[in-house]
Formats: sequence, structure tokens, C-alpha cells
Amino acid sequence: MDLRASDEALDWPALRERVAACTACALHATRTQTVFGVGSERARLMIVGEAPGAEEDRQGEPFVGRAGQLLNAMLRAIGLERGDVYIANVLKCRPPGNRNPSLEEAVACEGFLRRQIALIAPALILSVGGIAARNLLGTDTPVGKLRGTVHHVGADRVPCVVTYHPAYLLRQPEEKAKAWQDLQLVAGLLRESSALHSRGQST
Ligand code: URA
Repeated sequence: MDLRASDEALDWPALRERVAACTACALHATRTQTVFGVGSERARLMIVGEAPGAEEDRQGEPFVGRAGQLLNAMLRAIGLERGDVYIANVLKCRPPGNRNPSLEEAVACEGFLRRQIALIAPALILSVGGIAARNLLGTDTPVGKLRGTVHHVGADRVPCVVTYHPAYLLRQPEEKAKAWQDLQLVAGLLRESSALHSRGQST
């Protein structure tokens, strides 16, 4: 996926404004507000989900409903709090009835996520759920087949681990053990990248 040329040079305030004013797809007509993203702009780990749900649309923050509570617990399992990471979605507006994003909606929104990734330049992306994986990696391969290995996102080849969406884990708790394995992979990659980083700085 490519950045829309117009989004390429935006800084954080300009990007926020662009998202808040966006009317590029029909979702602007039904949203309460846009849901930009939350967390540290210097995060080493970026979480990418699908789209805001009802609670996110109301509060203007991603992952604040039940799935968000589970995401928080997943992060805590590897010693991280929400404020340590950056959390964003493929779509910045809620699809009515929480249906899956359409291709047109994802294309209309993709420049925003790309710019967020470029501004944060995370060491690692954790993609939660099939919609995020499809949009980040450009594949229809199911999450079950993508998990367990390191993929790469975009021209900068940002490392990316794929796991199940917390909303799916709420419905299928028997899959949680696999998600916990994926989180161990994330923790290991973050440790590795910070060891490399500090070695680089000391030489
Ligand atoms: N599901 C998502 O993918 N994103 C949210 O922000 C909330 C639920």
C-alpha cells in the first residue's frame, strides 16, 4: 500500500487535523467522531487493530471497550502498559453495526495509518486480527497461518507479528494460549531490538 502523496509530509498536529476533518468515505456521515490513535509517539511497539466500535466512537479512543480491556491485559502480560505503546486502527471511523471495513474505506484511510507508522517508526508492529493483517501485509492468508513468524510492513520493512483480535479471543477463549505465545514472540523481538540498539550506541 502506498501513502497518498498529500499525507506524506504531515506532522502530528497536521495529521490529526486531516483525520478529524476527513470526508473521504461515507463513514464520516455516521461517525460521532474520528478515532485517531493513542499512546506514546515514541513507542517501540505499535498495535494495529481494525476499526472503532461503538464505545471507541463515543470516546474517541481506540480499544476502550471489552476488547480493549483484554488488549490491556495482553500488554500487561509482557510488562507493558497502554502508555508504553501506540494503538491505532486501519479505519479511523466506525463502520455502522461494526461490520468489516470495505475495501474502499480501507483504501481511503490507509495513508493516515501509513503516516502514523512513519512518524512513530516503531521497532515492531503487532497486528491484531485478519483485517489489520490484510491491510498491513496485503494478504488474505488467515491469522492462524500468519502468526508465529515475523513479517515486514511497507517500504521501511517494519517487523510485524500477527495475532488474533482480542474480540475474537473473547469469543474463542481456547485460542488465548496461542495469543500468549505470540506475545512472547513480541517480547523477545523487543528485547532483541533494544539489545541491538544499545550495542549500536556503545560502539
Ligand atoms: N476493535 C478494533 O479493532 N479497534 C478498536 O479500536 C476497538 C475494537
